[in-house]
Amino acid sequence: MPEHHVIHRPRAARPPTPLRSSAPWRLSDIDYAAIDRTRVANDSTLFTLVTMASFVETGSDLYAHVLVSYFDQDPEVAGWLAQSWEHEEVQHGAALRAYVEHAWPDFDWQTVYDAFFEEYAKTCTLPDLEPSRGLELAARCVVEMGTATLYSSLHDYVEEPVLKDLAARIYADEVRHYKHFYRYFRRYQQREAHGRWRVGRTLAKRMFASRDDDGYCAYRHVWHATRGGEGRSVERDYQAFLDRVGTLARRHAPRELPVDMLLRPLQLPAPALSGAKAIARTLYRWWLHA
Ligand SMILES: [Fe+2]
Ligand SMILES: [Fe+2]
Repeated sequence: MPEHHVIHRPRAARPPTPLRSSAPWRLSDIDYAAIDRTRVANDSTLFTLVTMASFVETGSDLYAHVLVSYFDQDPEVAGWLAQSWEHEEVQHGAALRAYVEHAWPDFDWQTVYDAFFEEYAKTCTLPDLEPSRGLELAARCVVEMGTATLYSSLHDYVEEPVLKDLAARIYADEVRHYKHFYRYFRRYQQREAHGRWRVGRTLAKRMFASRDDDGYCAYRHVWHATRGGEGRSVERDYQAFLDRVGTLARRHAPRELPVDMLLRPLQLPAPALSGAKAIARTLYRWWLHA
């Protein structure tokens, strides 16, 4: 895209347009040698965000196995989870890690990640699986909505072309994950027939659970490795970081798509939709810290 288009585009953030077919991509498709370091080297908020995302995506493998075995009676879902979904989430972690290592070479990714993972595996609370598979699939829609929002915002914010491209690729994966989880949810819902109230509570619960927890665990380890020191407080710095992220989210997060993604599993009739959208928008803004 020519530079002047970037400058004059409307302020409202838009999710990336898919530039290619939804064919899977590989790590070797990312041209790390082309990274323009001058455009990212001094952006400490970006460094922290991308590193945190690389940690959480890489660590998601821990939780992936639990989910795969929850569906071991269903070869189609279990097969997709194990062969596509888990592999792609791990690749997100690896691709972001490689980006961090190229863009911020002073940061010792492996050492800090090891410390993060040791704590994450022990203490960072992984949300419990929902009591039924249908509800768990609905909750997974929330998680994929959250990651799609993150990478869409990152794509909109970042000017460095390699990271912009990587964010668009990961965004496309997360939207595709959402669509799979949603389709499987509908199938289970036909059998399990949960009321809207129950589904809505499950969605809200996962929304609350996904707001800060993993993030704070990752933040603390990045903070200790880069900014920790005499007289500094990790809690205070984390609040300031969230404020900056909220400011970025107000400008760069997509407006409507995540709200639609959040509400879709409720399968609301048209008359109820506008009221529900108002509530979902408020919840979404709170979740964004925006
Ligand atoms: Fe991911
Ligand atoms: Fe995903």
